[in-house]
Amino acid sequence: GAGGPIRLASQASTPPRSVVGIGGKVAKPDYSEAKIVLAMVGLPARGKSYLSNKLMRYLQWLEYDVKVFNVGQLRRSRAKQKKEQSGVKEDHTASYFSHNNVEATRLRDALAEDSLEMLINWLKAGGNVGIHDATNSTRARRAKIEARVAKEKGIVVIFLESVCDDPAIIAANVALKVSSGDPDYKDTSPEDAKRDFIRRIKEYEAVYETITEPHLSYLRITNVGNQATACRIHGYLQSRIAFYLMNLHLKPRSIFFSRHGESQFNVEGKIGGDSPLSERGLRYASALPDLIKDNIGDAPLTVWTSTLQRTIQTGQHLSYTKLTWKSLDELDAGVCDGMTYEEIEQAYPEDFANRDEDKFNYRYRGGESYRDVVIRLEPVIMELERQDNILIIGHQAILRCLYAYFHNLPQADLPYIKIPLHTVIKLTPKAYGCDEERYTLPIGAVDTHRPKPKAPQPEVKAYSGREYYDGNA
Ligand code: F6P
Ligand code: PEP
Repeated sequence: GAGGPIRLASQASTPPRSVVGIGGKVAKPDYSEAKIVLAMVGLPARGKSYLSNKLMRYLQWLEYDVKVFNVGQLRRSRAKQKKEQSGVKEDHTASYFSHNNVEATRLRDALAEDSLEMLINWLKAGGNVGIHDATNSTRARRAKIEARVAKEKGIVVIFLESVCDDPAIIAANVALKVSSGDPDYKDTSPEDAKRDFIRRIKEYEAVYETITEPHLSYLRITNVGNQATACRIHGYLQSRIAFYLMNLHLKPRSIFFSRHGESQFNVEGKIGGDSPLSERGLRYASALPDLIKDNIGDAPLTVWTSTLQRTIQTGQHLSYTKLTWKSLDELDAGVCDGMTYEEIEQAYPEDFANRDEDKFNYRYRGGESYRDVVIRLEPVIMELERQDNILIIGHQAILRCLYAYFHNLPQADLPYIKIPLHTVIKLTPKAYGCDEERYTLPIGAVDTHRPKPKAPQPEVKAYSGREYYDGNA
C-alpha cells in the first residue's frame, strides 16, 4: 500500500539531472524512469482538453515526452473505418452516450480500453506522461484503468478531475465545441450542435460519479484556478504536475514582453555585460509608458525586470508595481561575456562552430546554454501562470525561451526567434494557444539577431541532372 517500502521509479524524489557532455554540449535530462498515466475525469465541456493541452505544453517544455490519447478521436476514426468498410454510419448523437444504450456503452468502454492500451505501449516505448483524454466519469471505468495499469511495473496512474459549476465557463466551453468546427459536429448547424451537445452532457450527468475512491491518486481542479485538491501525489514529477495545475487560471489577461532599450553594448556589438542604455535606448524607456497605457488603460499591471541595469533603466518611467528577478538575467556567456561574435569566433573557433551547429544545447565555457536557461525559467513560467497582466522587460535569449513556451515552438527554432529591440509583444492566452500582437516604436536600434549560418552545400557535380542519372542508370 501507500507509504510501503517499495519506491517506484517514477516516484523518485529528486529532479533528474542533466549530464554534461563533450564540446560544451549538454545531454537531455534522463527522464527514462518517469512513466505516468494521467487519466482525465469530468463531464463534457469541463475543460479537460484545455488542461491536457496546457499540461502537455508545460511538460514538453521541460523536455518530458508527453502525448494525449483522445478517446473521442479514436471513436471517430473507428467509425470512419467502419463506414468505409460496411457502409454503416454509426450514430454519435447524444443517445450514443446514454448509459441506457447498452451496445454503445460496450463500444465506448472498448474504445477507452483500446486507447489506454495504446497509451501504455507508448509509455513502454519510452514515453513519460500519457494523458488519457476521456470522461472516465464512473467508478467502474476508473477501476478498470487502475487494474490495467497495476499490471505494469514502473507505471503509475493519477486521475485528474475537472469539476466546473460556473455557468459562464461551461457556456464558453459549449460555444467553443460547437463553433470551432469540432469534428463531431462538422455536418450539423451550430444550433442543432448546441442542442445535441447539451443533451450529451445530461446523459453523462445521469451517471457521473465524482472521485471519492479513497485509494486513488488524484487531483481535482474546481473552476480552473479556484480550488484544488491533491490526494496521494508522490515524488518529483507528480508534484510538479499538481503544482502547475493548481496555478492555472482562466481569467482574461495579457502578457507583454519587451527587451530592454538599446544598450551601449548592443551598439558596440558586444554580448552580455551590464552596460547602461544608449541614447536611443533611453528614448525607448521614455516612450514605453504611453504605449503600455494605450494598451491596457487603467487595468492593473505588474512589471518584471532582470537584475541588470539595462532592464531596470527601461522600466524606470513606468509607475506600476515592479519586481526584479535574478532568473530573468540574460543567458550567461561565461568566458565570452563582453566579447563581440567576431572576437568569439577568433578566440574560440571550435566553440563558435559548435554553437552554430546546435545552438539550443551549446553551453558557453563557464556559462549557460539555452537548455540551462529553460530550466532556470521554470519558476518564472509557474508564476506567470498565476498572475494577471504582466510586462516582462527582459533580454533576447530569455524572451525567446518564454515566447517558445507560450507558442509551443520546437527547441531547434527557439534560439533563432526574432525578438527585436524597441518592440512590445503582447500575448493574449486563448483556449488553445495565444493570440499575438507586436508594437514597434519608431526609435531606431541595432539588429542583434544573428541568423543560423547556412550549412555548407554539398559539392555539385558539373554535369546536369539528366546526364548524371543516365550515367548511373
Ligand atoms: O546581443 C544581445 C544579447 O542579449 C546578448 O547579451 C546575449 O548573449 C545574446 O543576445 C543572446 O543571443 P544569441 O543566443 O543569439 O547569441
Ligand atoms: C468520447 O467518445 O468523446 C469520449 C470522451 O468517450 P468516453 O466518454 O467514453 O470516455
